[in-house]
Amino acid sequence: MKPLLNDRGKPYTEVMEYDGYLFPGKLGRKGKTKVSEILADLNELSFEDDEVCIVSYPKSGTHWTYEICHMVKTGSSDFIDTLVPIFDYSSMEELKEVQATSRVYTSHLYPRHLPKQFMEKRCKIILVYRNPKDVAVSYFKYSKKLRLHDMEDMGFSEFLRHYISGNVWCGTWVKWMKEWKTFKEETPDYPLLEIAYEDMKKNPKESVQRISDFISVNSPPQFTDEIVEKCKFKVMAAHKHSNLPQNMEYLTAFENGHIFYRKGEVGDWKNHFTVAENEAFDKDMETILPKLGLNITYEL
Ligand code: A3P
Repeated sequence: MKPLLNDRGKPYTEVMEYDGYLFPGKLGRKGKTKVSEILADLNELSFEDDEVCIVSYPKSGTHWTYEICHMVKTGSSDFIDTLVPIFDYSSMEELKEVQATSRVYTSHLYPRHLPKQFMEKRCKIILVYRNPKDVAVSYFKYSKKLRLHDMEDMGFSEFLRHYISGNVWCGTWVKWMKEWKTFKEETPDYPLLEIAYEDMKKNPKESVQRISDFISVNSPPQFTDEIVEKCKFKVMAAHKHSNLPQNMEYLTAFENGHIFYRKGEVGDWKNHFTVAENEAFDKDMETILPKLGLNITYEL
């Protein structure tokens, strides 16, 4: 376990470094203290080819995409009121339960760390990404609420520096996106749907339709409309805030709502970045974004 230090030289959280990845400290499966053991567990799972995983850098709309995908796949617009199943930390029992039900998972891992059989079976992957400025703000607000972080004395500007240098859980946004871009280039025929948070905001119906088509589910038009309505931020957040998952208190002491649902907007970064921070960020990204081949939207 390695501490991540704040600007005052004090640990503000912990990670487990593994194969270029910063695995969130102490979030791993019960009793497992090594990332290699956590990932080895995953390789024991077997999969059918209709299983789906939402992959994302944290705070990119994972939960939102998961709910849409879950609704499409199960044909029911009921929300999931437990913590979402995630390859990285869910217990093996929880993951096996998913296999018996919706067969939709999430993950923040790099492609080479996903379960071996999942990849060999070419199970479908939905990669959701979001503009890195809004991710920074969302990550900051979220991390502040986590038990596993001590960020009382950390402001946004300091967090932004840690986020840019990769002194955060899961490392930098840029490295994460690069890992997935390389995977896409090396395995161009792997069934992977790339979807931007901002596109889901702008074109919700089209996005639900894209997800349905990708996972080969032919939903009736009224059901697509129902999903769009239920997955609007206000509707979804209202439900989530009044139906907190039972086991969320191990993650947070925050009791005033579901910590994965905050504002759900595009462009909140404007309320947090200074002009200088924004200019420096844009300058850094100037050469990086074209190489990633991503269409990044900072405002709608
Ligand atoms: P904000 O903190 O900017 O509000 P993740 O699920 O990957 O952790 O991402 C969380 C972010 O997605 C949070 O962003 C959260 O509010 C936003 N989000 C969750 N549900 C959403 C929805 N239905 N529509 C838009 N944004 C949503």
